[in-house]
Amino acid sequence: MRVLVTGAAGFIGFHLSKRLLDEDCQVFGIDNLNHYYDTNLKKARLAQLPRTSRFIFDQLDLADGANLRRLVEDFEPEVVVNLAAQKFAPLCVCLVQFRLWSQPQGALLRG
Ligand SMILES: NC(=O)c1ccc[n+]([C@@H]2O[C@H](COP(=O)([O-])OP(=O)(O)OC[C@H]3O[C@@H](n4cnc5c(N)ncnc54)[C@H](O)[C@@H]3O)[C@@H](O)[C@H]2O)c1
Repeated sequence: MRVLVTGAAGFIGFHLSKRLLDEDCQVFGIDNLNHYYDTNLKKARLAQLPRTSRFIFDQLDLADGANLRRLVEDFEPEVVVNLAAQKFAPLCVCLVQFRLWSQPQGALLRG
C-alpha cells in the first residue's frame, strides 16, 4: 500500500512511518522541519527510517500547493495520513494577541 504521511518527522508521523515500513508499505513522508521544537530531534527520527525505494522523504510545506500536487500525481497515494501540525501558537504570538485584545478594552474602561 502506498501511504503519504505528512508531519513524518514529528512524534506521531515518525512512529507511524516506521510501523508502516515494518508492514511492507511504501511510504512517502513530508515535513517542513519547522523550528517549533529542536529540528535535530526531527532529523534524528528521520535518520532512523531506512532510505530505500519503500521510503522517500521530502522537506516540503503543506502550503506549497504546486509541489504537493506534483507529489500526489507522481506517488499516487492510496492513503493519506495528515499529521503535520502546529500544536499551539508560540507564547510571543499569544502575548501580542492578548495585548491587541486588552489595549482597546483598557482604553474603553479608562475613557
Ligand atoms: N503527540 C501526541 O501525544 C498526540 C496525541 C493525540 C493527537 N495528536 C495529534 O497528532 C498530530 C501530530 O502530533 P505530533 O505530536 O506528532 O506533533 P509534532 O509537532 O511532533 O509533529 C508535527 C510535525 O508536523 C510538521 N509540520 C508542521 N506544519 C507543517 C507544514 N505546514 N507542512 C509540513 N510539515 C509541517 C512539523 O515540522 C512536525 O515535525 C497533531 O495533530 C496532534 O494534535 C498527538
